Parts: sequence; structure tokens; C-alpha cells
Amino acid sequence: MFTIITGSQFGDEGKGKIVDLMAGEYDLIVRFQGGDNAGHTVVVNGKKYKLHLTPSGVLYDARLLIGPGTVMNPQTLARELDTLAEDGTMVDEKKLGIDAKTSIIMPYHVELDSLRESARTEKIGTTKRGIGYAYIDKVARDEVQMADLADEARLRKRLEDLKEQKAAQIKSMGGDPHIMEDETWIKQYIELGRRFAPYVADVSHEVNTALDAGKNVLAEGAQGAFLDVIHGTQKFVTSSSCIAGSACANLGVGPTKVDEVLGIVKAYITRVGEGPLPTELLDSTGEQIQKAGGEFGTTTGRPRRCGWFDLPLAKKSIALNGYTHIALTKLDVLSGIYPLRICVAYELDGVRMEYPPESTFDLARCKPVYEDLTGWDEDLTAILSMDTLPPSAREYVDRLESLLRVPFKYISVGPGREQTFIK
Ligand code: GDP
Ligand code: IMO
Ligand code: MG
Repeated sequence: MFTIITGSQFGDEGKGKIVDLMAGEYDLIVRFQGGDNAGHTVVVNGKKYKLHLTPSGVLYDARLLIGPGTVMNPQTLARELDTLAEDGTMVDEKKLGIDAKTSIIMPYHVELDSLRESARTEKIGTTKRGIGYAYIDKVARDEVQMADLADEARLRKRLEDLKEQKAAQIKSMGGDPHIMEDETWIKQYIELGRRFAPYVADVSHEVNTALDAGKNVLAEGAQGAFLDVIHGTQKFVTSSSCIAGSACANLGVGPTKVDEVLGIVKAYITRVGEGPLPTELLDSTGEQIQKAGGEFGTTTGRPRRCGWFDLPLAKKSIALNGYTHIALTKLDVLSGIYPLRICVAYELDGVRMEYPPESTFDLARCKPVYEDLTGWDEDLTAILSMDTLPPSAREYVDRLESLLRVPFKYISVGPGREQTFIK
């Protein structure tokens, strides 16, 4: 069984929570794109785990893999594994594999990301984790791969080759080129290379072998459909492809192997950073949702912009990902909001549109057309079935399901693993 889970909106839909919930059924859990720009939260028995690189199945027995399509900052991974160990969760090389071809995020990528973002007159609002510059180097074939990091001589040779080019680029952007000569981080990276050398793996081979043996594999997406570098809201996107098909390409698994694609859909919408968000709420309702939903970035702590559920975007996401099922999250956050609005279409230059325009510029000009629902007052966080949902909450879920035309599998009513039921 091969299941792919992706975020259907702008990230932070609750992927971490749902992956953790399902992880007990899987033998392998694999990250296929992105890096430590991701922040996936898992809450078990009241304890909160914030994961940036470690796949969200870490609390189960499954083996975890970081695929070659990701960009991996070894400092972040080391910190994350140390924190997990302090909490009693040991992640050794039997538990975690990192593909030999995984691109390594270097300190100069972080520096370049910061310099570029500061220089932009129109900001993207990146997480400043060096994601974009690490992917540039991958495509330019100037990356340092996991296999290079694990071998001191190769790492030194690679850095020697790249030194002049990177120093010139940093200097031209107003930064300090001496970072390329700084032995402090170079020695630290050599140390990290030694630490992670035993983790080096062949992810495509492991995944295909597991599937051939009838095992269960779960691919965990990061970010969300509209942050996709090809199909998202350019330029306000991340630098990798976040949609379901990307799991196959990035993991080296044929599309014929996919059994299930689960879309994580928040009951409203949020976005961190810049870029269009047609249903954005800039009023007290937006603040109410932000507060009730704890909508502050897991990675950067920035407040997330909040808006009403956006059906045109959801339709596009279903097309981009080919969802077989949906997990609806954060329904509990909408308690006490009257009326509840669903954006069912847009209006652009006087024309009604059921599907988003392809250009980001046009999307930014779209005006939402709303349908209002009653809303409910009750606290949903202890509800564990459709039958016991207040009638108006049931109506909201049923209305969304009939508009999206993809079966809802899970309904999530709180951050805890247990605050979920199967529809
Ligand atoms: P991810 O990036 O998609 O994994 O999502 P994040 O973890 O960044 O953000 C989702 C936030 O919502 C986290 O703080 C979760 O603990 C929390 N969360 C997930 N599902 C629910 C839910 O159904 N209700 C509430 N109230 N919080 C949730
Ligand atoms: P998870 O996996 C929400 C956003 C940033 C910025 C844009 C580009 O937790 O859902 P980058 O640093 O990737 O170059 O920033 O993408 N972004 C996210 N927003 N959730 C994420 O990940 C994100 N990862 C990147 O805020 O707008
Ligand atoms: Mg997140």
C-alpha cells in the first residue's frame, strides 16, 4: 500500500497530526520534498512535538526516510534528534535513513536567502532557511549531497570548487564573503557528516523493495499545493513541488504504485508570508480564528493570515493532487463564528469564476462570492462522531464534502491524536 499525503492549501493544514495518526499502519514514512521550512506538529498525551525534518511517524515503530528531493540542514536535524532523545525517543540509523543524494543546506544558502529577501522590494516572506538557494544549487549541479557531507575529503574538495563562486555572489549582494573561509562551520559540518554517515541510504530502492514485499509506505508532503514551485501562486511559493505527483518523481517510485492520495484540508484557510489570499479576513473574525486556531508559524512564529474556506482553490488542489480522500482539520476552531462563510466562486472583472485563474496577478484581483451557513456555538473538541456533532457543524461538513466531491475520511477537532474521528 502506497499512500501520499499532501497539504491542499498554503501549508499548515495539519499534515503532521494526520501522518502521526495514520503512522501505526505503515512500515515506512518518507519525506519527499522541502526542508526545515516545514513545521509539522504532533500532539500526543498533551505533549507537543514540532518536527521540521523528521517524518511525523517518529513516535511509532515505522522506519523513517528523508528522500533525495529534500534539502536537508544537518544542524536542524541534529538539534531535532537531540530534542527527541531528551524526550526518550531515540532516532538511530536503524530508525532513520537519509538518501545519499539529498542536497545539504549550507550556511551560505541561509545567508544568500536572507540577503536576497532583504533586497527584494516586493517580499516573498521566506522562512530564511536557505531553501531556495539550496534548490538553485541542486538544479545548477553545484550542491553538496549527503554522500559528500559524509566524506570529509569530498566535502573539502566540493567547498574548494564552490568557494570563489559563492564568495563572489555573497559579496555582490552586500554580504560578507569570508563565510566561505570560516573553519568554524566547516569543522562543524565535517562533524555532522561523521554523525550522519551511518544514516546514508538509497530511498528509492528501499521504498520500491518495501512495496514489492507488500509493506505499507506513507509519503509525507511538506508545504501545500499553492506553495508549489510550478503550480502555486508564483512568485509567492516555495522552491519545490509539493503536490502528490512530486512524491513519485522525488522518491523514484512509479505512479502505477500509488494506492491512495489523502488531502489535508483545513476547515478555513491560512497563509504565512506574502502573496494572494482571496478570502483573507482583515477584521476581528480573522483575529478570532487566528487566536482560536493558534495560527502562528511552527517554524518562524509569524502570525498566519486567516480567511474563509476557498472552494475555487480547493477544486484546483483536488485537480493538482488527484485526491482519493480528504482529512478535514480544525473544525473545532470555527465554534462561535456567525455566520460561517464559504467562498463558492470568485468574481473577476464582472465575470463569475468557479475555478481560479491561472495567473497569480489575476488571482490577487479576484473577489470572493460567499454562501453563508448558520454556524454553531458548541465546543467540538471532545466530539468523536458525525452523529454527535451539532446539526450546524454537520451541515458545514456535509456542505463542504458535497462541494468538493471527494469523500471525507477523517474529521479533526483538536490538535491531539485522539481528537479525530472517521467520517
Ligand atoms: P502542518 O505543517 O500541516 O503539519 O501543520 P502545523 O503543525 O504547522 O500547523 C497545524 C497546527 O494546528 C498545529 O499547531 C497542530 O497542533 C494544530 N492542529 C492540527 N489539527 C487540529 C485540529 O483539528 N484542531 C485544532 N484546534 N488544532 C489542530
Ligand atoms: P509546512 O510543511 C506554511 C512559505 C513561507 C513563504 C514561502 C517561501 O509546515 O506546511 P521558503 O522558506 O520555503 O522559501 O518560503 O513559503 N512556507 C510555508 N508556509 N507552511 C510551510 O510548511 C511553509 N514552508 C514554506 O512562509 O511564504
Ligand atoms: Mg506547518
